[in-house]
Amino acid sequence: MESYFEIAKKKFGELKNKKDVIILGIESSCDETSVSVVKNGTILLSNVIASQIDIHKRFGGVVPEVASRNHIMAIENVFNQAIKEANISLEDIDAIAVTYGAGLIGALLVGVNFAKAVAYSLNIPLIAVSHIQGHIAANYITHKNLTPPFVCLLVSGGHTALLEVTDYISHTMLGTTIDDAVGEAFDKVARILGLEYPGGPNVDKLAKLGKNNIKFINHNILNGTLNFSFSGIKTAVINYVHNLEQKKESINIPNVCASFQNFVVNELTEKSLLACKKTKINKLVVAGGVSANSYLKERLTKMCEENNISLFMPELKLCTDNAAMIASAGYFYALKQKGLSDLDLTGQATINL
Ligand code: KG4
Ligand code: ZN
Repeated sequence: MESYFEIAKKKFGELKNKKDVIILGIESSCDETSVSVVKNGTILLSNVIASQIDIHKRFGGVVPEVASRNHIMAIENVFNQAIKEANISLEDIDAIAVTYGAGLIGALLVGVNFAKAVAYSLNIPLIAVSHIQGHIAANYITHKNLTPPFVCLLVSGGHTALLEVTDYISHTMLGTTIDDAVGEAFDKVARILGLEYPGGPNVDKLAKLGKNNIKFINHNILNGTLNFSFSGIKTAVINYVHNLEQKKESINIPNVCASFQNFVVNELTEKSLLACKKTKINKLVVAGGVSANSYLKERLTKMCEENNISLFMPELKLCTDNAAMIASAGYFYALKQKGLSDLDLTGQATINL
């Protein structure tokens, strides 16, 4: 009798020539439990997301152990809902794609183990997907005609980088952050200002009410390179706030948000342009949670118009963590015949870009 993996391998091999491929994606790397069904990498049949934001809010950030427990409680219902909304039966699923990293290890293990159980019970291939490849793939769902090569500005809670995406699932790194990720800087600045978790969207909202009139730092040591540094601006904001607090002076929170956001968005915009110039690629794709930032969208739109660059950003619901992007990436892995995993797959806290 053939083993599970022998059958899965055979079916995986057939996927690259199959007309319609239905992939079920699973994402549990941080505080969103999500299951989604995507056809042919771009057609969204369902995308169910159970967010734990309200649970973690009172702690001011994600508590890993609490996240794992809540993933366990949510995942079965989220899975059933995703199947129901997609209006398919279990037999229609061609493969399971799951985020294996990067992320919180306990949280990842819930999704990975659930994915293994489903793949084994249905005798179908299990595809291990990188969360970063997933964020990039969110754009293939929003922009059905998008094709590599392109420059990708990756801006999430855990990563900040400029990538040259050469093929659907291959890229080379052009530059990265030498310290904090940009989402992390947004969240820390929000925290020092007493704003609720997750801080990024709140800084975005308040910045609209404020003025960019505070100069926190004067220069950037990485000017002219494609690398980023956000710990300097973060520390400068923290010192500014502490200083005013010690003097018992009031803090204009909207102005702090607008000035901080302006600095960060300047960096991201200027270096994206530099990356397009250096690679001579006039296609820019944005990926990761910070792509939801309204000011970043405004500035990139303007910069791309002025420089004849086509800009692609995911629709809002696909900017932050979701399983649709994982299912989409899984499809392109299958086309390239990469990522097939046996049942010994495990989670990985970090992944090299
Ligand atoms: O990609 P993501 O959902 O999770 C990771 O893979 O890390 O990104 C989450 C990050 C958080 O730091 C969050 O504050 C930030 O994205 N974020 C934003 C906005 N929406 C989410 N940052 C700035 N402005 C936003 N509108
Ligand atoms: Zn993410």
